[in-house]
This record gives sequence, structure tokens and C-alpha cells, in this order.
Amino acid sequence: MKKITMFLAALAAAMPLMAQTKVSIHEEAENQPIIPAEIYGQFSEHLGRCIYEGIWVGKDSPIPNTDGYRNDILQALIDLKVPVLRWPGGCFADEYHWMDGIGPQESRRKIVNTNWGGTLEDNSFGTHEFFNLCELIGAEPYLSANVGSGTVEEMAKWIEYITAKEGSMAELRAQNGRKEPWHLKYLGVGNESWGCGGNMHAQYYADVYRRYSLYARNFNGNRLYKVACGASDYNYDWTKVLMDQARNTMDGLSLHYYTVHKWDEKGSATEFNEDEYYNCITKACEVEEVLRNHIDVMDAYDKKGRVGLILDEWGTWFDVEPGTKGGWLYQQNTMRDAIVAGLSLNIFNKMTRRLQMANIAQMVNVLQAMALTDGDRMLLTPTYHVFRMYNVHQDALFVPSDYKAGEIVSETGRRCADLSVSTSRDRHGVLHVSIVNPSLAKAKKLTLAFDKLKPASVEGEILATDDIHDHNTFENSELVAPKAFDGAKIKGRNINLTIPAASVIVLEIK
Ligand code: AHR
Repeated sequence: MKKITMFLAALAAAMPLMAQTKVSIHEEAENQPIIPAEIYGQFSEHLGRCIYEGIWVGKDSPIPNTDGYRNDILQALIDLKVPVLRWPGGCFADEYHWMDGIGPQESRRKIVNTNWGGTLEDNSFGTHEFFNLCELIGAEPYLSANVGSGTVEEMAKWIEYITAKEGSMAELRAQNGRKEPWHLKYLGVGNESWGCGGNMHAQYYADVYRRYSLYARNFNGNRLYKVACGASDYNYDWTKVLMDQARNTMDGLSLHYYTVHKWDEKGSATEFNEDEYYNCITKACEVEEVLRNHIDVMDAYDKKGRVGLILDEWGTWFDVEPGTKGGWLYQQNTMRDAIVAGLSLNIFNKMTRRLQMANIAQMVNVLQAMALTDGDRMLLTPTYHVFRMYNVHQDALFVPSDYKAGEIVSETGRRCADLSVSTSRDRHGVLHVSIVNPSLAKAKKLTLAFDKLKPASVEGEILATDDIHDHNTFENSELVAPKAFDGAKIKGRNINLTIPAASVIVLEIK
């Protein structure tokens, strides 16, 4: 008994020490991958108010715009450094006929968006408007071609229209105002071909993919990176069949993973209790295991890691905001979304030997958006701020780190470490450390310890509020915004800091 008491006393005495977590940062580690900027990619679909109103208002709109693109969104996207932008869907892509979206805007065919609320669209945003947008914001275009209801010829001509220097498709493009071809790297051959993109079986799609991708030609030195439609979530069989049957004809294989609690019980984006918060966070963390399982399947067929895994849809999916259209998927975005974004991006950073791109769904006004608009008003979401803070990791060298974290177990039985850290070194030699504390209750004391570096300076930014439900509204658009963080202190070879509960910090260390 006495022994046990002594042991408990010793344990209690040790408690304050245990509260300090040591994060060992191995900045000297060799053979580490570059984090592809594309991990920070975006997705914009003809869905709700993502394209129309969110990005595109047309030249004659009273909303301040540049050639039809709203100025506030353009500036926000430029500041964000969007590396790659996927378009036109999503489910919309497999019913999109690109010829409807070229030529004089006023005479384009009007279409009913059957996937998303039956909205009437005038096709004023088409190929030219998309590629010009990518040029304006400096993003690589990622085109999703129609396989479900389109023909091989239609897809082949679209590629020719965009990338050929000569021939009748190039002439048509020139007649429509663009003489020089655009650059197109990423081509998705179908979207969710197991569902809204054609309802196909894996074996059947593998053959369809082989056929379509054969006619996706490279013109004038343009080299396409062809992405086969991949699985959703836990469907490892789809990945297996595609790798078995079509790996030699693809550069990438996609995957979709949404942070959704239950498809028939998504819950509110802004009103949630603690259990619901942790259900969401642990579901977001589970992407790591899902990615690893798909990667294991890919490794079995492609030991050298030639085929990239392309997570071209991810993010939170909640009930639509009350009073908005069901098919438009408009949801608010709280500090909970910021935590999901930070945790997810830290996971993606460490998986880039195989994971080559990730596109959050979606850029404006849809699901886990970067920005929301209301007429001429625009706000940046907490998720935007995380993406902006994290853009320092784009094209930087991954730096491994290790630490002992506690574990959060939600009522669904899913798990998540109660601390997430990711480090990279940019081309100027500057280290950036992104840290997420997903715990609602506990701040954490951290010591960052380096292999050799003796830090000379540290500064940072923090995204934190008093209430996890906090979100920006059109009346108060700055409630959740990053602030300078001066709580990190150099002590010899270490840096000490306390990260508050439910917050995200990015440090810059020289
Ligand atoms: O992002 C919304 C939809 O989710 C996409 O259109 C589809 O690919 C997925 O099911």
C-alpha cells in the first residue's frame, strides 16, 4: 500500500513535466520529399453559387469585377496562392458539354443543372472564362472531362481546342478570342464514375478509362497528366481493380473523402455539441488511415510510386444553411472547420511520396469554402485563413518530426492524436512549423527541439477564438482572423510555446 502511495505521489510530482510535450524536429534528415504545392489545391464546380455569383458575375454586373470575375474573390485567391484549380465538376462534369460554353456569351445554350437543384445556367462561364481565371490567379488548371454522358470525340476535341496550335479546333479557339493555346496539365477522365459519373463497375470503368485516355492526346509539347477516376472513402477494391487493369495508362488515380458524420445525419455547420465536434475531428483524422490503405494497394502494383494519388475532393460536409436551397450545398464555416483543415493539411504534408494533389471542396459558397458571398459582400472563412497561413509549405522540403501525443477517442470510436505538427523548409532555408491543437479543453506546452539548428528568430501567426462555434458573418467578417503570435520563445537550441485549446499556429523559424 505504502509503495502504491509513493508511486502515485511520484506520478503527481511528475505531472507538470508530463504536460510539456517535446517535439523533435529533424531538420537535418536526408532524402525527404518536396511537398507538392498541389496538395493545397482547390475545386470549383457548377454547383449552387460557386461559379455564378461566387466567382463570375459578368462584365455588366454592379459588383466590382475584372472582365466578369468579382474583384474581391480574385484578390483573395491571389493572396491564397491557389496552385491548382479543378473544374467544372464534380457530378456536373459528366453532364457538361464544353461546346455549350464557347462563343459569344449571349448566344450560348442555356442548360438545366440537373445534378444541383435544377438551376438554369446560361453557360456564360465556359472554357475561356475558366482558363483565363487560372491565368489571372496563377493556378494550374485541372480539367474534369465528361465520360459519363460525353463521347471520346467530344473529350478529344476539347483537349485539342485548348492546347493545339493549329487545325480547325485551334482556329475555332482563335475566332473566339484566344490565339495562343493554353497550357493544360491535369486531366481527370471522369468523376465518380461509380456513381453520378456513369454508375459503372470498376472493371467496366477500367476499360472505359483505357479507351478515353488513349485519345487524350498531347499537342505541341503539352504533356497531360492523366488522372483516372478513383474510389470513394473505404472502397479499396476500386483502387485494386484500377491499378491492376489500367496503371500503365494513368499518371494519377483519384480518391474522394469527405468529413461527414453520417450521410443522412450530417448535422449543422454552426451548432454542435462537444461529442459532435470530436466525431467530426476524428473522422477528419481517419483520412490518414484511408490514404495509407489506398497507398498500400497502389504500392503492391507500383513499387516505384510512379502513379500519384490525387485526393481531388475532400472537406467537411454539413447540412445546408437554414433557408438556402438543398441542392446548393451552401454551409457556414467555423473554427471547427479550421481545425479540420489544419489537421488534414498536416496529414497530407507527410504523405506526398504518393499523394500528389488534394483539392478541397469547394472554393466559394459550397461545402468547406474559402470564401462566402452575399450579393456584393464577401467574407473569408476560417478555412481560408488556415490555407493562407499554410501556403508556406507549398513546394517546400518536408522535414520530419516526432512527438508523443495523447489520443482523442470520439463516441464513434474513431481516434485522433491530440496534437498535430508538420514542418517544412522553404527554398530560402526558412523553417515553417504548423501546429494544431484539436482539444477543446487543454492548452499544450510544447518544446520544439532541433537536431542541430540554433534558432535565431521565431515569429508566427495564430488562428484562435474563445468559442469553437465562432464564424465570420457578413455583419462581422473579422471575428475569426489570424493574429500575430509572439508566444514562442527561443531557449538555447529549443523553442518553447503554449498552444491554446482549439487553435492553429504557424511559426517561421530562421
Ligand atoms: O462536391 C460535391 C459533390 O460531391 C461532387 O459533385 C461529387 O463529385 C461528390 O459526390
